[in-house]
Amino acid sequence: MRHNIAVLLSGNGSNLRAIIDKGLEVSFVASNNPKALGLKIAKNANIPSYSWKNVSILEKEVLKLIIDYDVKLLALAGYMRLLSKNFVNSLPSKFIVNIHPSLLPKYKGMNAIKQAIEDSAEYTGVTIHHVDVEMDSGYIIKQERIKINENDTAKSLKDRLQKIEHRLYFETIKFILNKKKKD
Ligand code: GRF
Repeated sequence: MRHNIAVLLSGNGSNLRAIIDKGLEVSFVASNNPKALGLKIAKNANIPSYSWKNVSILEKEVLKLIIDYDVKLLALAGYMRLLSKNFVNSLPSKFIVNIHPSLLPKYKGMNAIKQAIEDSAEYTGVTIHHVDVEMDSGYIIKQERIKINENDTAKSLKDRLQKIEHRLYFETIKFILNKKKKD
């Protein structure tokens, strides 16, 4: 069964891999980075993949692909660009979701994990939220918290957070799709 989700990414694509491995069928993957490892993951899984370095072209093409593939949900998975107002406003509300390695609204933007360590935070976590025109903003759908250990490094914390991400993104996307079906 097609799940009508599309993924936008810029890098490794470990979240994409988790979503695919757990059984969600992705309609297409697009990237602003032609060298993104995530594009290889898509190709190996026979998922149509596209890349455009120029972000305004990418946005225009992705809007067309969303219609062509009858996509119901767009998941950002390590997409390192801010989406334009025009792009976000061209889609229905709650159409785009993102995953971020902090307990938003804390530690927005790049280096969220490093920010938490440098802040000597006791806890950090993972947030899945709907995307609006601001960075790492939008309605929070799901959060999961973990304790930062004294001996945690950015690497050890990232590894633990990504384990959570790989489970939580799949579960949350599935939940949203099931809810959409009932609406
Ligand atoms: C994840 O940590 C996600 O929270 C953030 O970007 C990273 C992407 O990782 N938005 P990957 O490319 O899925 O491995």
